[in-house]
Formats: sequence, structure tokens, C-alpha cells
Amino acid sequence: MTTTPMPARPAPPARSRRRRLLLGALIGLLALGLLGLLATAGVLAIVYARASTSNVGQLGFTQPLKIPPLAEPRLDSDGRKVFDLRLQPGTSELLPGKPAETWGVNGAYLGPTLRASRGDRVLLNVTNQLPESSTLHWHGMHLPARADGNPHQLIDRGSTWSPTWTIDQPAATLWYHPHPHGRTEHHIYRGVAGLFLLDDPEASALALPRRHGVDDIPVIIQDKRFDADGRLDRTTLGDDILINGTYDPHVEVASQLVRFRLLNASTERSYNVGFDDGRAFELIGTDGGLLEAPHRTTRVPLSPGERAEIVVAFRPGDRPVLRSFEPDLGENFFGGRFDGADDTFDLLQVRAAARLRPSPPLPARLARHAPLDQAAATTRRLEITGSDSIDGRTMDLGRIDQVVTVNTTELWEVHNRTGSFHNFHVHDLQFKLVEYRGGAPPRYLAGWKDTIPIPPDQTARFLAQFTDYADPTAPYMFHCHLLRHEDRGLMGQFVVVRPGQEPQPRAPSHHG
Ligand code: C2O
Ligand code: CU
Repeated sequence: MTTTPMPARPAPPARSRRRRLLLGALIGLLALGLLGLLATAGVLAIVYARASTSNVGQLGFTQPLKIPPLAEPRLDSDGRKVFDLRLQPGTSELLPGKPAETWGVNGAYLGPTLRASRGDRVLLNVTNQLPESSTLHWHGMHLPARADGNPHQLIDRGSTWSPTWTIDQPAATLWYHPHPHGRTEHHIYRGVAGLFLLDDPEASALALPRRHGVDDIPVIIQDKRFDADGRLDRTTLGDDILINGTYDPHVEVASQLVRFRLLNASTERSYNVGFDDGRAFELIGTDGGLLEAPHRTTRVPLSPGERAEIVVAFRPGDRPVLRSFEPDLGENFFGGRFDGADDTFDLLQVRAAARLRPSPPLPARLARHAPLDQAAATTRRLEITGSDSIDGRTMDLGRIDQVVTVNTTELWEVHNRTGSFHNFHVHDLQFKLVEYRGGAPPRYLAGWKDTIPIPPDQTARFLAQFTDYADPTAPYMFHCHLLRHEDRGLMGQFVVVRPGQEPQPRAPSHHG
């Protein structure tokens, strides 16, 4: 059989055929693209909507606020105030009726409030009964580097570390927490943290509310995520809030003026604290102590690690709610959304009694701040270069990043080169901002600080005085206090040396 070739159908002119194909493909692509775009936009919209959280209006304020007990130090034969602290695992009902495994100090969750005065010599016996090595760091304290409780002073399981120093700084609300390298977030989130209050004679002479838990109330703010059984779930941003380890809290007050000592002990969440009824209050202190004069305001921003002392006036029967409003992280609308910039939380209901004890008016002057000598200060510039690096380097316990000469004043210029929010904390001292976000520091940041938020592309410039303690072998830290960043290595080390001394880094010591 032979095949006769089919008479060729007259081919359409190649050009018009190609055009039709092209057109079809284009329409197809456009439709696909449109669909993809719609789908992406839809997913993004859902993710975006879900990224913000709030408990405002959802709480019943059913639980009385827990007040951490005041530790009772004993005096040793040298006249030192001795505190015995045990880091221990335990069980707590963080959600009422739902026991969860937690860690604490001398208890199952959080720790006692330590209190000492300027001039006191203190000795802290810290015993580690946790299942892993830890440390205990005295955040905000001026002290020798080997007493600092940073990653270099590891306390092995079952052993005790006993640092001692003399308190020599103004009255302040400091705190303590573990600092084991790479594990800090885990240890604090589990519950190891507490307040360390300092007094000084000038501050004690002021007419300020000072009865612990009565008219001087600690407010330790932490966000958590709970699983269905009320156990702690690991997270960077939690959607439930605990105050002093209390869920759904209220506190009763019975005097006209009440002081609240706010501490943000959260992993990564920033707050912007005020009241639901918009009332103004007086900010009287920041990280390192009292302001020179009270500052009347309606909001106090708090990034992780920062403290603020406020005094609030109440009328009989008042029931305002301490609330966190949207914090200004300085991020773009999208990034900020995922870092909690749109989140709001009811924190604590305050119930004022039907009759209130009269309080003396707040003093107009609170403290005298010795000026720091900017003219004599040398400038040191640091750059946050990622969520795990400073000046392009990740934390290395064996590397000294900065060497400072004792009894000098320096101007530190810390720039955030990343697109996201960080803060910056320095051990050993309290600093004074001279420039913040391109201008003069706002009044609420005019006091002593040891931790400062730095939004993307912004710079904080501050004066810091390095006094008393020189040790070329033992470093202090500076780092981001967003705990996961710190753990990943957004941290560096400095030693304070005598003039001409060389740093001699040593491997971390183990106590045990
Ligand atoms: Cu509160 Cu180095 O930390
Ligand atoms: Cu950070």
C-alpha cells in the first residue's frame, strides 16, 4: 500500500498563529498571576490578621495578685547580709486548676524580692537544683565582674556559687535572672527571675509609698503561651499575660497614692503601659533609680528588661485596669505587626477600697543626678548588624570585644542597622542618654538607664562611667535583651582594666 500524501492544508500565516498562541498564553498567565496574587494576598491577609492579639475586655480579674515574698537576709559574723537562693524545679498552677512544670527560686515560680541598702555588704548563696547548669545575674547592679552572674560564672547542677559585694548605687528597682549562654530565654521563661530592690538614705527620707505589697506593689509582666493542659509552650510572643505569675489578676489598694514597680520580664514582647480610663500618673523612676523630678504622663513604654516606677492616685471605689496599649517599635506596619506593635493587653485591675488612707503629696524633687562629663568622654561606636550579631560578630565567650579603662567616662553610640526592633543592655552600670532617635532624649528616658530600645535605623547615644572595678580576666556583657537574640549571639563582652593593662580572657569558670 502506498500512502498518498495528504494535501497540505493551507497553513495559517505563521505570524497570526503565533500571535494567537501568544495571546492565549498571555491571558492564561495573567489569569494565573491574578489567581496567585489573590491567593497570596488572601494568605497574607489571614496571616496579617492573625498576627495581632489582644485580651482587652476578656478578663474577669478573678485572681488576687500574688506578691513575691520579701527575702529575710541573715547577718553573718562579718556583718554581711546573707541571702540563700535555691534555683529549683516545681509545679505551679499558672492557669488556675491546671498544674504545670515550672522553675523558680526558693519556690516553684519566680523568686523572692531581695532588698538591700546603699553601703550594705551582701553575700548571695546561689544553689542550683535545676536539671542543668545555670547562672544568676544581678541586672542593673554595679559590682565586680566575677560577681556578675553572667555566662562566665556557671553554677553546675547541685553546686553553690557565693558572690559578695558592697551595694554602692542609688535606690532602684533591679532584678535577677539566669544568664547561661544560649539558654537564658529558656531559664527565664520557665520562671527563674525576681526583683532586687535597693534603698538609699536620701530616697528613704522622701514621702513615697514604700510598703511592699501594700502601697508599693511589684508588677512583673510576662507573656506566655499555654497548651490545652495549661502547660507552658515555648514561644517568642505569647498571647496570655501573667503578673507576678498570676493569671487574670486584681489587686486591692487602700491608700490615695500607690507606687507600682513595673518590670518587663518577657522574652521578646514590648509593652506600652497606661490605664484603660486614660488617667495620668507620675513616672518617678526608671531602670537605675529615681528621676530628678516626677514626670506626669499617661504611658510608659517597656521593652524586655526595662523597669519603671509609677505613682498613681486613686479615688474611693475606683477600679481602673492597668493596660498595655500598642507599643511604638518604630518598625514598618508589616514587620511591627509580627513583633507585637498592634497588640493590646489588660494587665491588672486595681480595686481601690471604699475609704482610702490619705497620702502625703509627692515630693517635687526626687533625686540629684551627678552630671557626667561629656567633654572628657571618648566615643565608642557599636552597630547591631543582625538578630545574632554586633559589628558583624556573633557572641564568643573566648573573645573580648571592647576594652575600657577604669574611672573613665565614655560616649557609647549604638546604632541599629537592621530592619527590626532590638534593645541594648549594658552590665555593671547605669547610663544617661544624650541623644535618642535623632533628638534630645524624651523626659521619660532622662533618668538612669541600663536597657534602651533601639528601633530600626535609629541610634542611641549615651554617657557611661566605668568606676571602681577593674579586672582584665573577667568580662561584663552588652547585648540585646530580646532573649532569643541574646541567646543567638547578639551579645559582646567588655573588660574594664587599669591604664595600660591588657585583657586576659579566661574560659568560663564552673562552680561545682
Ligand atoms: Cu538582664 Cu545580661 O541581662
Ligand atoms: Cu534583638
